[in-house]
Amino acid sequence: MNTQTMNEIAAHQAAVIGSPLKMQARNVNVYYGAKQAIRDVSIDVTMENVTAFIGPSGCGKSTFLRTLNRMNDTVASARVEGEITLDGENIYDPSMDVVQLRARVGMVFQKPNPFPKSIYENVAYGPRIHGLAAGKTDMDQIVEQSLRRAGLWEEVKDRLVESGTALSGGQQQRLCIARAIAVDPEVILMDEPCSALDPIATAKIEELIHELRGRYAIVIVTHNMQQAARVSQRTAFFHLGHLVEYGDTSDIFTNPRETRTKDYITGRYG
Ligand SMILES: Nc1ncnc2c1ncn2[C@@H]1O[C@H](COP(=O)(O)OP(=O)(O)O)[C@@H](O)[C@H]1O
Ligand SMILES: [Mg+2]
Repeated sequence: MNTQTMNEIAAHQAAVIGSPLKMQARNVNVYYGAKQAIRDVSIDVTMENVTAFIGPSGCGKSTFLRTLNRMNDTVASARVEGEITLDGENIYDPSMDVVQLRARVGMVFQKPNPFPKSIYENVAYGPRIHGLAAGKTDMDQIVEQSLRRAGLWEEVKDRLVESGTALSGGQQQRLCIARAIAVDPEVILMDEPCSALDPIATAKIEELIHELRGRYAIVIVTHNMQQAARVSQRTAFFHLGHLVEYGDTSDIFTNPRETRTKDYITGRYG
C-alpha cells in the first residue's frame, strides 16, 4: 500500500471515529545503526480512544512507542525519520524542549521502576522540577490527586513516607502511573505495563486504563491479545517493522483485512 493511501486511511479513520486528534505520525522510519526497525509507519493517536500496539516480539512496538516522546534520543545508535506531531507541532523540531515533551507525553515501562525514595517523593519529584506547585499545600494536593487518579490513594495514604520500592509490584506500577499523571500529561504511553504483574494486579491496571480514558490519550503496547481486546478501542498490528493494519479493535479481532493480521490473532505465529 502506498504512502498516500496510508495517509488517506489514517485521516479517514480519525474522521470516522470523531475523536480529537492528539498525535500524528507520518512515514516514520527508525534505524539502529544500519538496521531498520520501523518501516514507513503512519498512525493517528486520538484523545478518547485507547490505542493498543500488538505484534510478535521484536516487530518494533517498543521502538515505535518510544518515537512518540523521543525516548529513542537516549539510544546512541537510533535514528528517527519522518514526522511526528503533538497537537500539530513537530516534536522533532530543534526548538522542542524534550524534558517538557516527556512531561506532556509520559511513559510507563514494562518493569515498575519507582525511585528509591518515599511514595510521596516519587509523585512530587516531577511537579517540583517542573515548578508546578506553589507551595507545600499545593504539592500535597497534586500528590493526593495523582495517587487518587492512579487508584492507589486508599492503599498508601497512611504510609506516604515509606519507600516506593517497598510496595507490591502492582502498587509500584500504579505509583509509576501516578508519577506520570503528576506532571499533568496529555498522552500516556505504556510499554507492556502488566507483563511483570500477577492477574489481580493486571486487572487493576486494566480497570485504571478504563478510568483514565478520555482524560489522557493512552497508547499501550501489549503482547497479550486478550488485554488489547479488553482495554483498547483502536488496535495497530505491527509485523517486522511494518504497520500491517490499524483499525477499530473489534474489527481487528473479528474481521481483519490482512492475512498477516488474521494469522497472528488466530495464533498461527508468535
Ligand atoms: N537499543 C537497540 N539497539 C539495537 N537494536 C535494537 C535496540 N532496541 C531494539 N532493537 C531491535 O529493533 C527491533 C524491534 O525491537 P523492539 O522495538 O524492542 O520490538 P518489540 O517491542 O515489538 O518486541 C528488534 O529487532 C530489536 O532487536
Ligand atoms: Mg517491546
